Amino acid sequence: MIIAVDGPAASGKGTLASGLAKHYGLPYLDTGLLYRAVGRAVEQYENSPEFEQRAIAAAQTLDENDLEPEFLLSAKVGTLASKVAVIGAVRHALFDYQRQFATQDGGAVLDGRDIGTVIAPEADAKLFIQADSKARMERRARQLEARGQEVDRYALYHQIEERDARDMANPNGGFYKAADAHLLDTTLLDIEAALRAAIAIVDGAM
Ligand code: C5P
Repeated sequence: MIIAVDGPAASGKGTLASGLAKHYGLPYLDTGLLYRAVGRAVEQYENSPEFEQRAIAAAQTLDENDLEPEFLLSAKVGTLASKVAVIGAVRHALFDYQRQFATQDGGAVLDGRDIGTVIAPEADAKLFIQADSKARMERRARQLEARGQEVDRYALYHQIEERDARDMANPNGGFYKAADAHLLDTTLLDIEAALRAAIAIVDGAM
């Protein structure tokens, strides 16, 4: 059983995907961490002409030890992630790892932007998570504050909007709702209610 969970920044897809993984006893991969790890690895080249080549090399040599969330969750690394994510060769280099994770025996849950469209178009259940930008900003702000980071909400709102715009315009991205994906809007739902709704969708798709 493959469950694909896609959606924009801070839509709650990570919380839902890990909740689904726990509920169904499946392994879980947050694919955003791969792009974040590549982005973080090339931070010092952000404004250099070498940025693209460095990002491709980092994606090709990425290893699981680079995926520690504690170093990857800042808004700055999120922005860098969305900049490396537009490079076709970066996406290509990260494809096999995600594909193998998705197709392992027994199944898996993956979240990202292109799981239902590119990584696992044959997924048994596809969810496309949505929430309005202000709700997403507030959730992400609280997440960062819980990690002891100081948050400028105005700046964070703009960072999220800018990142969504870049992701949606990404010509190599595959970031759109698959025709067979179920739309779940979490704007007005707390975590428990959103998870119950997601489980109902997955159960219905089986
Ligand atoms: O999901 P998260 O916000 O951690 O993703 C960080 C960035 O990585 C996204 O803004 C997007 O640019 C990129 N990404 C992607 N495809 C995925 C997962 C993430 O392009 N499957």
